[in-house]
Amino acid sequence: MHYKLDILAEKGYVILGDYDGPSISSDEWESLEYMDWKSGGDTNFAPLASATGAMDCRGFWDHGKPDKYGIWTRNRHTAPGLVRYVEEIGGNYGRVRVIKLNPSDEAAALRQLHRDDNNRLNPDGSGWVVRSWLELDDSPGRSMFILREDRDDPATETRIRLHPGMQIVIDTERLWHVVWHPGPRPRYALITSWESDKVLGDWIALHAVSDQQLVHAGTLARTSLPAAGG
Ligand SMILES: [Fe+2]
Repeated sequence: MHYKLDILAEKGYVILGDYDGPSISSDEWESLEYMDWKSGGDTNFAPLASATGAMDCRGFWDHGKPDKYGIWTRNRHTAPGLVRYVEEIGGNYGRVRVIKLNPSDEAAALRQLHRDDNNRLNPDGSGWVVRSWLELDDSPGRSMFILREDRDDPATETRIRLHPGMQIVIDTERLWHVVWHPGPRPRYALITSWESDKVLGDWIALHAVSDQQLVHAGTLARTSLPAAGG
């Protein structure tokens, strides 16, 4: 058994209030060194922290490690604001990466629904690894996370509209997930693996926003698939 956060128990995700710390220039993510690595669509990834500090997008298990105790790569010098963002949360981070996602249509995105392998080699009794997102640049109000408890059952689906500055924590080993990004420009986001512990739980609890506020703001829509032809 792993330690899991109560705040993620019901839905498997929590939407937080927008990032309101020191502004982070788009130069940071646009100047990073990206690697050709496909996950969840037509993607490139810039590793900021990896298992060994090398520029490496592979799972930490390839190095005999669970997805925590990440080591900064040389990309850290290009993105000091993103590094500071992660360090200030203060928890035990593993993989830290910026994703660059090229546009797709909805059907292609849905074919990319997947679950992450976050907890391989993570010993029993330690904290379950989950992931956070900081949305950096996208098409505000058009890009969306699609989450499903059951891959083949749209009735279990939640759609979350994305905008820059948005912060989300997702148990991506539990929920099937993908971002549908219609473009036209690429979408960038900072993705960090975190061990569930008190530090992460406190950070989430401090910033969590209620579903009621999110539905009101148009961020959260529980939908099934659009009507045929729609
Ligand atoms: Fe994923």
